[in-house]
Amino acid sequence: MPQDAIYVTQPSMPPVDEFVPFLEAIWRNRQLTNGGPFACDLERALAAYLDVPFVSLAANGTLALMIALQSLRLRGEVVTTPFSFVATSHALRWLGLTPVFADIDPATGNLDPAAVEAAITPRTAAILPVHCFGRPCATAALQRIADRHGIALVYDAAHAFGVRQDGASVLRHGSVSALSFHATKVFNTFEGGAVVCHDAEIYDRVGALRNFGFVDATMVGATGLNAKMSEVHAAFGLLQLRHLPAALEKRARIADAYRAGLGDVRGVTLFAPAADATANHGYFPILVEGGCAAVHRHLQDRGIVARRYFHPLICDMPAYRGSVPPDALPHARRMAEEILCLPIYPDLAADTVATIIATVRDAAAPAPRVAA
Ligand SMILES: Cc1ncc(COP(=O)(O)O)c(C=O)c1O
Repeated sequence: MPQDAIYVTQPSMPPVDEFVPFLEAIWRNRQLTNGGPFACDLERALAAYLDVPFVSLAANGTLALMIALQSLRLRGEVVTTPFSFVATSHALRWLGLTPVFADIDPATGNLDPAAVEAAITPRTAAILPVHCFGRPCATAALQRIADRHGIALVYDAAHAFGVRQDGASVLRHGSVSALSFHATKVFNTFEGGAVVCHDAEIYDRVGALRNFGFVDATMVGATGLNAKMSEVHAAFGLLQLRHLPAALEKRARIADAYRAGLGDVRGVTLFAPAADATANHGYFPILVEGGCAAVHRHLQDRGIVARRYFHPLICDMPAYRGSVPPDALPHARRMAEEILCLPIYPDLAADTVATIIATVRDAAAPAPRVAA
């Protein structure tokens, strides 16, 4: 790999001197964690920015998802997607819940509501969909299914920071949603995450669960975790928020360039933008007909590190092998073979984007050889 390789993502970093006053404040007040002033400020700022009533910060997205699920006191099976990062179903397994994988909608990569309904049994406690690549799930249909069966709906919203559907936050859907603020995400706090919910009772439970289950200064009500976000991470989040609008704007310009440059390539399909939702452009996925392996390798050989998110499917990883028959989930299997996420991040230069476009075009339709 060349030294100046272009990776699928690169974290946005604000000017370091803007972070120094935050650090000086932490050094002065010596409150490092346990709901310090920066964590409280960030929760308030995120609730306002995301347009949601309750935000509970967590140390990372996986722990956020675990305490979100735990707050609903579920038992049994949870219908979820195999086309996601493995943390989605790991969170279920850590809580003693059984993931049941359902197929996806080939147009969006999100859980297909009809497949979800077909996977529900008397043991099903909840549905755990992912807003894959930030594109909202079929939220209304999934809510109808959850209501019809009297089961919970929890969203893994790790990719959906700031996304709005039908004019309001996509995080308003379901009982609870979990966000990731990992370094690779649109909004990052180095590591971090949050639980978003809509009522004070769940908010209080989540608050206790992320702090070992403490319900007051001495009493523990449940087997909680240490999932608290530190003051340094929270301070970084406050600083990141200041720079977020500019970063999102740059991502949108890159996505526009990819669409203009790749829309007509034979054998390459772009996801149509969602008609009812905004996009945060955290990812730029393409589908390569017949399988993306050759295009992936062609890019890699030229120092462009695209990623096969999500290949293999979670159900095909050794830890989950045997959870579905080999011929099940045809849409997810096909997407896992064809999907390739191209580099996208705010500091990706326009001429680099042009090079990536030219390289994809070349890989998808190689120039005819000229006879000697
Ligand atoms: C869909 C999805 N869920 C959960 C996670 C876990 O988040 P974290 O890395 O912050 O633990 C990630 C990403 O990292 C993800 O992409």
